[in-house]
Amino acid sequence: MSGAVSIGLDLGAGKCCVASVRAGAVTVLPNAHGDKTTPSFVAFTDSRSLVGSDVRDQAALSPENTFYGVKTVIGRSCKKIQKNELAYITGNEVRTGEIFMMNLLPEFLITEKGSAAFKIEYRNKELMLHAEEITALLIAKMKSVAEDDIGSPVTNAVITVPVNFSNAQRQATLDAARIAGLKNVTLINSTTAAAIAYWDQHPREKDCVAVVDFGASSLSFAILSIDNGTVKVLEAYGGLAVSGNRIDFCMMRAIVTKFQEKHGKSFEESPGALVRLRTAMEKLKFNLTLLTSYVLQVDSLSHGIDFTTTFSRQEMEESCQSQFEILGNALRRWAKLKNWVKVRTIVLVGGSTRIPTVESLIAKTLRKPLDHSLNKDEAVACGAALRAAELCCSTPREVQEVLSRRVWFEADAENFDLA
Ligand SMILES: Nc1ncnc2c1ncn2[C@@H]1O[C@H](COP(=O)(O)OP(=O)(O)OP(=O)(O)O)[C@@H](O)[C@H]1O
Ligand SMILES: [Mg+2]
Repeated sequence: MSGAVSIGLDLGAGKCCVASVRAGAVTVLPNAHGDKTTPSFVAFTDSRSLVGSDVRDQAALSPENTFYGVKTVIGRSCKKIQKNELAYITGNEVRTGEIFMMNLLPEFLITEKGSAAFKIEYRNKELMLHAEEITALLIAKMKSVAEDDIGSPVTNAVITVPVNFSNAQRQATLDAARIAGLKNVTLINSTTAAAIAYWDQHPREKDCVAVVDFGASSLSFAILSIDNGTVKVLEAYGGLAVSGNRIDFCMMRAIVTKFQEKHGKSFEESPGALVRLRTAMEKLKFNLTLLTSYVLQVDSLSHGIDFTTTFSRQEMEESCQSQFEILGNALRRWAKLKNWVKVRTIVLVGGSTRIPTVESLIAKTLRKPLDHSLNKDEAVACGAALRAAELCCSTPREVQEVLSRRVWFEADAENFDLA
């Protein structure tokens, strides 16, 4: 990677964040709304594509043309995803196997290679788009956010991926970056980026930390050491079996049951209703991070009924019990890793680490000091930006990443493939 201007891009399933090193300090670059993160929503109108919060806020109006969570399908075989994750709301039931993201994505065909090709209406034509092309629109948007802030073209980037991303998922991400016009791109695990951001704030000659990154679509964990400037990933695990989106789905299931009990009607599973419900779940979840109980209101949830109910943190814990079990099992395994004794502190990043039950489960199971000093939404982008700036200089610090490792997390008798 060469050239002076470079960015670090946290390409999240839920939001994107871009940062750059300027005058020696790492800065998060805000979008045109002044927000430091941009929701990972892409939509197509008759004449153009749109990205970000405007799309999120109108998602229920045109769910057939709105993409959220494309990261969960990029570089993957749909057949495998369907086998692992296909599930749906049927009447009063959300089957666990999990409803999953594919139900919230627009209509798609499965290509001969097994990947998804999404059907969209654009400029009065029907187009087939691949996850790489939709992801490219997200990347291009973040590139232009950076260019507007920096005031010059950007072609060098470090982009973050979850530790469990396969080679195919990594290659597809690189393809998307190329389509978006980035020329020199390096991928880095989100946990490695977070560790780099941590050392930038807490420099020690020798250190060993664990990073937990719990986001919208994935959970990543790594133990990393730094020794004389060399960052080394000692172990890294992660997967999709537990995630913020899945927690939303578990809560959706509980709300659908409440709706049925209160109104004696089945839940009409229209794409618009699913989007409204999902959006309401995220708001409910955010509020239950701060409050122990919250009054949920969803306009026209089903049969035109405006639904109101009280939902408590305890109800959230009960409805998401399977998710917390998977998380607990993963944490117990990590606490037995051979490098665990070397870990001094646990760095928490990713929005889902804010959930009180998640934080207390991590504290109780891992029993080492938790570090909250990093901004949970921005640290990964900052670490990537620091790495990008290093790669542009003549003597970059060495970063040794391990190949992604996948594990099977167990919940009850069921196994979830994290791939
Ligand atoms: N205050 C909060 N309370 C509960 N959950 C939260 C809070 N803030 C964010 N989240 C959840 O965190 C998740 C987003 O986290 P984050 O932004 O780290 O994910 P991401 O980087 O987009 O996704 P990924 O890393 O999986 O690709 C979402 O599921 C969101 O609902
Ligand atoms: Mg993330």
